[in-house]
Amino acid sequence: MTVYRGTVLDTPTSPFDGGGLRAEVDAGIAVEHGAIVDRGPFAQVRAARPHDEVVDLTGGVVLPGLVDTHVHFPQVRVIGGLGKPLLDWLDGPALPEEARMADVDYPGVIAGDFVDGLARAGTTTALVFGAHFAPAVDVLFERAAAAGLRITAGLVVGDRKLRPELVTTAEQAYADGLALAQRWHGKERLRYAVTPRFSLATTPGLLESCAALLRDVDGALFTSHVNENPAEIAAVAQLFPECAHYVDTYDRFALLGRRSVLAHSVHPIDAELDVLAATGASVAHCPSSNSALGSGLFPLQRHVERGVRVALGTDVGAGTGFSLLREGLQAYFMQALRGFPLTSAHLLWLATRAGAAALDLEDVGDLSVGRQFDAVWVRPPDGSTLDRVLGHAADADDALAKVFALAGTADIRGTWVAGERVRLLS
Ligand code: GUN
Ligand code: ZN
Repeated sequence: MTVYRGTVLDTPTSPFDGGGLRAEVDAGIAVEHGAIVDRGPFAQVRAARPHDEVVDLTGGVVLPGLVDTHVHFPQVRVIGGLGKPLLDWLDGPALPEEARMADVDYPGVIAGDFVDGLARAGTTTALVFGAHFAPAVDVLFERAAAAGLRITAGLVVGDRKLRPELVTTAEQAYADGLALAQRWHGKERLRYAVTPRFSLATTPGLLESCAALLRDVDGALFTSHVNENPAEIAAVAQLFPECAHYVDTYDRFALLGRRSVLAHSVHPIDAELDVLAATGASVAHCPSSNSALGSGLFPLQRHVERGVRVALGTDVGAGTGFSLLREGLQAYFMQALRGFPLTSAHLLWLATRAGAAALDLEDVGDLSVGRQFDAVWVRPPDGSTLDRVLGHAADADDALAKVFALAGTADIRGTWVAGERVRLLS
């Protein structure tokens, strides 16, 4: 058994639903076999286990491990490709870079950078868009297992309107996906996600094969993109004239449920929000990507008021980095501009427990007894601006706001999954 000592901040219940920040200064968290078995004032938790190892995480704050509900593995090297809207950005730089995943060695190099990027940012759990090539997805799963992260990922599939080397068929998509799921789904902390790129790259036949795979792999997730950009939305409407709207292109094939995550949803109509709410599907809000591609200002308040579950994603590489703390700040900026100001507790909720719920993970997302010890220690270097202002925070909510405003990867001192330190691969 191990006792972790530090100032612990988490959000066990949604601030959108009356919950708030739980803050415990000088707390002790007792962990056995990866799970939290006790928490409370350090002196009390320690007194009950005087002989256990103590891990000192005092100074700064301990947060639940961050959950990234939308991030693209093959896009590490296109981060920062600014200046284009979605469809032009996909044409170049994004999809030419994704085509390089057909190479034998290249995916390993990128997978190392990708997994380290998550860990260094304090991300412990992620729903990952894999590659269009099955061997590259194998490499991603291998590296994620070596690091110890909780990763749900899948083969990205499309059967029209893509570069020829990225195109598959409905039959091949099913066969490749099933083989990958058989190798990885449920192994260690890994799960499979059925991942059509977006309706714009699919025929109805491919979406049917996705539905079959989702039915046949017990507990698999579903993820894709939706309503990101007006030109994309118009093109999808032309391809699927029989569908009521973009969300319907997925719903019609029974792809939406409590284990479904759709990225963006920047331009939904109310009927789409009602379908998302009724099916229990979640939206991955990716604020830095939405700004970088000029996609639009996410209507968070409408999602919340209509009962749609929302969490955060970095959307690397349209997004500008792996930090969910920065995504939280960007979400705050956007909603402040929309007249829907958020608190630091909302940001932490979106970056942790909301993400775990979106990924249908009951045992992570906050640091309650019974959950796994997935945690990140934010400990700024002595004398840094964050260090100085944290020392003068008015209260815990204010301290957390300062973390969102100022923390970078240099302030992430450690990341744990199930009580094990995440291993950097390079
Ligand atoms: N829609 C389809 N593919 C992508 C992608 O790679 N990134 C983003 N942001 N949107 C997409
Ligand atoms: Zn994306």
